[in-house]
Amino acid sequence: MRQSNKAVSTKSEAMNRNERFLKACRLEKTDCTPVWFMRQAGRYMKAYRDIREKYGLIEMFKNPGLAAEITLQPVNAFSLDAAIIFSDILLPLEGMGIGFEFLEGSGPVIRNPLRSKGAIQSLRRIDPNEDLGFVLKIIRDVRAEIDGKIPLIGFAGAPFTLASYAIEGGPSSSHNRTKELMHGDRASWDLLMDAFRRTVSAYLKAQIHAGAQAVQIFDSWVGCLSPSDYRDYVLPHTGRIFEELQAEGVPSLHFGTTTAGLLPLMAEAGSSVIGVDWRISIDSAWRTVGRRIGIQGNLDPATLLAPWDIIRRKAREVLDAVQGRPGHIFNLGHGVLPSTPEDSVRALADFVHEYSAHGAAPNQKPQSAE
Ligand code: CP3
Repeated sequence: MRQSNKAVSTKSEAMNRNERFLKACRLEKTDCTPVWFMRQAGRYMKAYRDIREKYGLIEMFKNPGLAAEITLQPVNAFSLDAAIIFSDILLPLEGMGIGFEFLEGSGPVIRNPLRSKGAIQSLRRIDPNEDLGFVLKIIRDVRAEIDGKIPLIGFAGAPFTLASYAIEGGPSSSHNRTKELMHGDRASWDLLMDAFRRTVSAYLKAQIHAGAQAVQIFDSWVGCLSPSDYRDYVLPHTGRIFEELQAEGVPSLHFGTTTAGLLPLMAEAGSSVIGVDWRISIDSAWRTVGRRIGIQGNLDPATLLAPWDIIRRKAREVLDAVQGRPGHIFNLGHGVLPSTPEDSVRALADFVHEYSAHGAAPNQKPQSAE
């Protein structure tokens, strides 16, 4: 089996690598399951750490040459089916008037967290070409380099997750101040969500025009909300972004964590694919969002710190659960952890391809996977 695999590789493999991910987003049949990883560029890679030693994080995000190089590091090292630009969801905040920095070791910090109606009212409207031209250049440069070989994903934060950062001032486990504004001052909340909706819509459209072939919206922290609050305070805004993106004709992906209870509503938001974490079985998630939407996920990133036998068994469980149904994109349930061995990432990407190519039905175990 391995030999016949090799025989069909090279040219058709190259063609498939360019199409697998986008086809799966459109629920079309593929030769095997596409795979990419959130935070596939980052500290777990030595090549990344070598660059990181010499530069500050924001410097790296704003330097198109470096950012393009970092974007390509995982794509050149592993058999991944999509590249994602090296950037960050917080970058659009600066142009809106919300300053921030990345403190070494403790993550992002907002300089003046949004705590008043006045601060929300004075947010600026961004022009993606002017305020985020460096991201658009990364997209153009990377696309030129990988065009026809592997698709490029653009991304942005969702209004709720951006609002949480802007209000809390950094990562938060409770999001209580965010909820306080949401419940306590509806007019200011809607103004803020509207400002982020406008920013994200314009930014993603600009990314698509610069060459992004799919876009993912990260609503990483939305799982802290009740379904009722999600429906009342978030869905109208996020839903409008996906509606506005529809005319662009590229697939859209909608990711969040701890979203098991929100999935029916997230499905209403209207993306082509929904990304889920490992706290729900992927098949149950897919049934919940409906089969007309693709599903992305959902191995626990901590699995990649385990011995290979465990990684393989858990990856197989994910693949078996969806039974090779068109529309599954293999990913982790959140970003690659910094302590992940590069060899495990490599082996996992290869395993997903090999195992799914041979039929992932529970009773059809491929020789190569044993
Ligand atoms: O997925 C990718 O490979 C693309 C790159 C990417 C980064 N950030 C680079 C980055 C993406 C998609 C993001 C999105 C992002 N940024 C999210 C949503 C996804 C998620 O993880 O939930 C969030 C919440 C942020 C905000 C953010 N940026 C945090 C909380 C941190 C610090 C935490 C950490 O991992 O250190 C960052 C910094 C950041 N963004 C790093 C990277 C590679 C770490 C860089 C470093 O210290 O060298």
